[in-house]
Amino acid sequence: MTIYYNDDVWLVVAHVSELKKSPLRVFYQGIPIVLFKHANNIHALKDQCPHRGTPLSMGCVKQGTIVCPYHGWQFDSAGKHVAMPGNPDFIESTKTIVQSFDVAEDGGLIWVRHKTNKNNGDIRYIPNIHISHPYITTSKTIEAGIVDIAENFLDPLHTHFVHPGIIRFSRVQRHNCTVSISTVEHGYQATYIEEKQQSGIMSKLFGQHITKSVGRIRYPGIIEVEYYSDHAIELAVVIYLNQENNSRCKLIMRSYIKKKKIPFFIVAAILTPFQYLTFLQDKHILEAVEHSKNELQPSPLVVTDCDVMRPYIERALKQDIVDVSVEKNILL
Ligand code: FES
Ligand SMILES: [Fe+2]
Repeated sequence: MTIYYNDDVWLVVAHVSELKKSPLRVFYQGIPIVLFKHANNIHALKDQCPHRGTPLSMGCVKQGTIVCPYHGWQFDSAGKHVAMPGNPDFIESTKTIVQSFDVAEDGGLIWVRHKTNKNNGDIRYIPNIHISHPYITTSKTIEAGIVDIAENFLDPLHTHFVHPGIIRFSRVQRHNCTVSISTVEHGYQATYIEEKQQSGIMSKLFGQHITKSVGRIRYPGIIEVEYYSDHAIELAVVIYLNQENNSRCKLIMRSYIKKKKIPFFIVAAILTPFQYLTFLQDKHILEAVEHSKNELQPSPLVVTDCDVMRPYIERALKQDIVDVSVEKNILL
């Protein structure tokens, strides 16, 4: 199921390092977009040549225009037709024939929205931690729906089974955890206070003093997971979810790690393989879920009290924000 947001909402479509000299295909609410760069400005057009429909992202950039790879038609950054090889009578168009989009670079991320004169949709969410903590950014794709992906990152009860040994061990005795769910700006969060430390290797490496963790979802599809010691956020993961279609999402993920005495590149080099492995484990299970749903139209899913964030994810993605204050217990 594709969830559509307001037309003027800014969405993260890529990390800046993904856009090099060649054009890049990204998506805005399921619409394919070609990004291209000229003189340090980024431009965004619908990724479809109006002649025969070829993806313009397969072409190249020439003097600030994008060249279609099929017959060489050229379009400027506003989507005007500026060259048609082979036509001696061609006159440059003054009208836009390829739809263009607003594009912004902010916080090392590329954001796109529909062209608008409105400024009230001008929210580009970058967490405060962006200023205080060093970070690494990666982009990945998962062939699954946005709600299932968002839930996976906010669901502690799968970690024993899908990430045994990395986040939690499945065989150790479970302990009590108090979960408080509350409303935040544009979304909801769950705060977890566990009786004991998490048992997996990640907590041995990064979580020695963790006293609580928080999972959060904000409109339009931003996930945050934070691990707190008494003094600070020790580790946080922020994921911008971008729906490419109803069963595929791009994830632009940032891991923020509190400054330590050891150089950041060493800490990052230790963290990266574990994060990559957990990502592959999640991707594997989420893609199996998606495949199974497509194979066998499932009867309505069973949502229990332990599926702490599922109802709030569905609400947040629809911008349905109401006051919530709930407390419950689970065993982790
Ligand atoms: S399809 Fe693009 S120029 Fe012909
Ligand atoms: Fe997971």
